[in-house]
Amino acid sequence: MTDQTARPRSFSASVPLKGRIAIPGDKSISHRSLMLSALAVGESRVTGLLEGHDVLATAAAMRAMGASIERRTDGEWRIHGVGVGGLLQPREALDMGNSGTSTRLLMGLVASHSITATFVGDASLSGRPMGRVIDPLAQMGADITSSPGGRLPLMVRGLAPAIPLAYRLPVASAQVKSAVLLAGLNTPGITEVIEPVPTRDHSERMLRGFGADLSVEADADGTRHIRIVGEAELKPQMIVVPGDPSSAAFFIVAALLVPGSDITITNVGLNPTRAGLIDVLRQMGGDIELVDPREVGGEPVADLRVRHSALTGIDVDPAVAPSMIDEFPILFVAAALAQGRTTTTGLDELRVKESDRLAVMAAGLKAIGVRVTETEDGLIIDGTGGDPLPGSATVAGHLDHRICMSFAIAGLVTGSPVTIDDMAPVATSFPNFERLLEDLQK
Ligand code: S3P
Repeated sequence: MTDQTARPRSFSASVPLKGRIAIPGDKSISHRSLMLSALAVGESRVTGLLEGHDVLATAAAMRAMGASIERRTDGEWRIHGVGVGGLLQPREALDMGNSGTSTRLLMGLVASHSITATFVGDASLSGRPMGRVIDPLAQMGADITSSPGGRLPLMVRGLAPAIPLAYRLPVASAQVKSAVLLAGLNTPGITEVIEPVPTRDHSERMLRGFGADLSVEADADGTRHIRIVGEAELKPQMIVVPGDPSSAAFFIVAALLVPGSDITITNVGLNPTRAGLIDVLRQMGGDIELVDPREVGGEPVADLRVRHSALTGIDVDPAVAPSMIDEFPILFVAAALAQGRTTTTGLDELRVKESDRLAVMAAGLKAIGVRVTETEDGLIIDGTGGDPLPGSATVAGHLDHRICMSFAIAGLVTGSPVTIDDMAPVATSFPNFERLLEDLQK
C-alpha cells in the first residue's frame, strides 16, 4: 500500500461532459461500517463499500485483529465480528498507508482493548499530527509512544478496562470525536465528547444503528454533548453505503466549469454535515438540482443534475468549513474560473490534511496561471470569469488524492494541458475517477 510507482498524467481542454455516472461509496461510512461490523457479534453485510486503498487498510487491520472479512464476487462484503472487547493482538504492525481516518479511529479502538498495536504509514501520513488523538486516549489510560511531534510510527498499548472521559474537542474533527467514542465502546460507564462545532456525524448514526446506547444533546449555543454507554453489545447489520459527496464534488465542479456540460451523478450522500459545497456553489451561481431525494442506509441521498454555469466569486462563510472540509481544493478550482474574487478564511485545518492543502493548492494554481494569494488561514482567488486558464505546467500532488483530482479537473478548462506528477494517490479514495471522467467525455 505504501510502495506505489509514480504515474504522471496530463489533462487538457475537454469536450462538454454529458451523461450519468454513479460514484463509489462514501469513504467515512465505509471505514465505520467495517470497524463496527468487526466488533458486532455475528455476520454483517455491506454493499456499496468503497474499495479504495484507505478502506482496504482498515479491512486489513480489522482482519489482523481477529475479524473475518470477505468480499463476495457480487461486490457484497461479509464480516464476522469478534464482539466489543474481543479484538486480538495483531502480529505485525498495522499499515495504514495514506489513511488518517483508519489511523485515528483504530487508535481509539485499540486504546480500550488489552492489546498493543504499532501503526505505520506512508510519507504523507507519517507527517500528520496524531497528538490530537493521543491526548484524550492517554487520559483514558492508553500508553502511547509516538515518533517525535506525535507522529507515526507509533505504538498504542491499550488498557482494559479503560477510564471513561468527558472530552471537549479542541479542534473541529470528526476523527478525534470518533476515536474517543470508539474507545468508549469498550469502556465501563459513560464516555462523553463535547463538540462545540458540528462535524460529520456518521459515527453517531452508525453506532446507534448497531444498537449502542448513544445520546446527543445540544446546548442553546449549539454545542453537542455526545454520550456513549460503554461495554456495549453491537448487533450485526445490513449496510448500504451511499455515494461519497466528497468524490462527487470533482464532477460537480467539472460540469459547472466545462462549457456545454449537463450530467447526472446518482446516489450522492447529502448528510447535512457533509453537503456544504453544494450550498456554496449554488451561492456562486451553480446550477445543481437535487433529483429524487431519499434515504439510503440511514443517510439522506439524491441524484444530482449539474449543468455548466457562470460562477461569481464570494466570501465563503468560515462556519461552513466543517461541512465541506475535504472540498476546498476543488472549490478553489471553481473560484479560479468565477467572475471576481473568492475569499476563504478559517481553514487552518487544511494545513494538516494529506498535504498542506493551502500551500499546495496555492503553488499549483499559481503554476497554471491563476491569480491567488495565500493567507495564514485561507486563499484569495481572482477568477477569470469563465475564460480558460493558461495551464501548461506540471503540478505536484504531494501524495494527496484530492490535490491530484482537483488539478485534473482544472486541466479540463485550460489553454494548454496540466500535468499531474503522480495520479497514483487517487486510488486511496476514488479508484475509477479517470474512467468515469472518460465516460462523461464520450
Ligand atoms: C473524516 C474526517 C475529516 C475528513 C477526513 C475523513 C472522517 O477529518 O477530512 O477525510 O471520516 O471522520 P478531520 O477529523 O481531521 O477533520
